Amino acid sequence: MNETQKIKISKILKLNYKSIVEQLKFLAQEFAGKIIFSTSFGLEDQVITDFIFSNNIPIEIFTLDTGRNFEETYKTLSKTETYYNKKIKIFFPDSKKVEKMVNEKGIYSMYESIENRKECCAIRKVEPLERALKNKECWLTGRRTQQSEFRKDLPLIEYDNSFKLFKCNPLYNWSLQEVKDKIKKKNIPYNILHDKGFISIGCSPCTRALKVGQNFREGRWWWEKNTGKECGIHVKEN
Ligand code: ADX
Ligand code: SF4
Repeated sequence: MNETQKIKISKILKLNYKSIVEQLKFLAQEFAGKIIFSTSFGLEDQVITDFIFSNNIPIEIFTLDTGRNFEETYKTLSKTETYYNKKIKIFFPDSKKVEKMVNEKGIYSMYESIENRKECCAIRKVEPLERALKNKECWLTGRRTQQSEFRKDLPLIEYDNSFKLFKCNPLYNWSLQEVKDKIKKKNIPYNILHDKGFISIGCSPCTRALKVGQNFREGRWWWEKNTGKECGIHVKEN
């Protein structure tokens, strides 16, 4: 991070917003036309989408369709677009790369090794994400500090050195209960898998419901140990 970026971050942090809406409006102005929000239709994402769409804040919203999403996630996408009468941009992986990987390694290659799993995430998520973030200056996400050990120090805004842009996490200090309360209070559409024991929802082969007492991230890549359970969209390794 250079001096100009540091100054920008401290300016944003000093503003002491009264509300998230005020904060999002400020960011939309500060990064006009160069700010984008990524949604996987998780509860947090739905809250941020509601802030943006209900208040007509000029922030584009996109999702990465990995080709392995749950049917319920597609239904949430469609339901959300209808509810707000707005469009969410969809990015797909490069079909040639997917075809090659699947034909050479099989449809469930991700279970065979960490390298295969990371390759799948790189092709299905990271490369499309790079396209989505191209020429942008600020990326909004729904991450929260309480989601995992890995995210415990997450700030409101940081500089992402791998993607070379500011990355802002408007709900970084919210608890899961606060997120759920907001969804309920405002009747925001959500993924019905959340009613079936799913908390953090990603691709179908790599996500499962939680058992009582399990942590937030334990339903993701559950067969892997000590990988931090981050797929490369938030920690770029190359
Ligand atoms: S992941 O890295 O493990 O997949 P997680 O599911 O916790 O991430 O989601 C955290 C944030 O990453 C979401 O709030 C969203 O901003 C972004 N994100 C994750 N998956 C996607 C996706 N498929 N499309 C767009 N954004 C995504
Ligand atoms: Fe592939 Fe699983 Fe990563 Fe989705 S989460 S891109 S299916 S390895």
